[in-house]
Amino acid sequence: MTTKKYHRAITYGTFDLFHIGHLRLLERIANLADEVIVAVSSDEFNKLKGKYCTIPFENRRDIVAALRMVTKVIREDNWEQKIKDVQKYQCDVFVMGSDWEGQFDFLKPYCDVVYLPRTAGISSTSIKQKIQT
Ligand code: CTP
Repeated sequence: MTTKKYHRAITYGTFDLFHIGHLRLLERIANLADEVIVAVSSDEFNKLKGKYCTIPFENRRDIVAALRMVTKVIREDNWEQKIKDVQKYQCDVFVMGSDWEGQFDFLKPYCDVVYLPRTAGISSTSIKQKIQT
């Protein structure tokens, strides 16, 4: 019998240059929910967001899918798909890092919305900057 608060969580992100902040976030989501669905942003969606991404979608997707706490990986193609995803996969919680605090509260009629603190001192952007210097 499960002792976790939720059955199925969903989270979204680019996960470029997969790093410890990504891992810690997914671990904490897995502590909250039996199942963890991760929507990985497509290269086209990153371009649309003006986000420069180093690793191609297929590789980022495969890295995330290989993690033992991740139940399923889907593709994120646009800003609008979240309500549909939550309904389609019957998620009872939507989780993001605290850099997104408040921005997805529109999902609250459909599931719980939780923002977890980011791991300090690391981001894909900071890794790229370090490599360049
Ligand atoms: N995240 C985190 N701690 C970090 C970095 C990211 O908890 N130090 C979380 C984000 O809040 C998000 C998820 O990991 O919920 C995916 O974030 P993503 O944007 O892919 O990672 P970043 O390292 O923040 O990427 P970037 O620098 O390109 O914004």
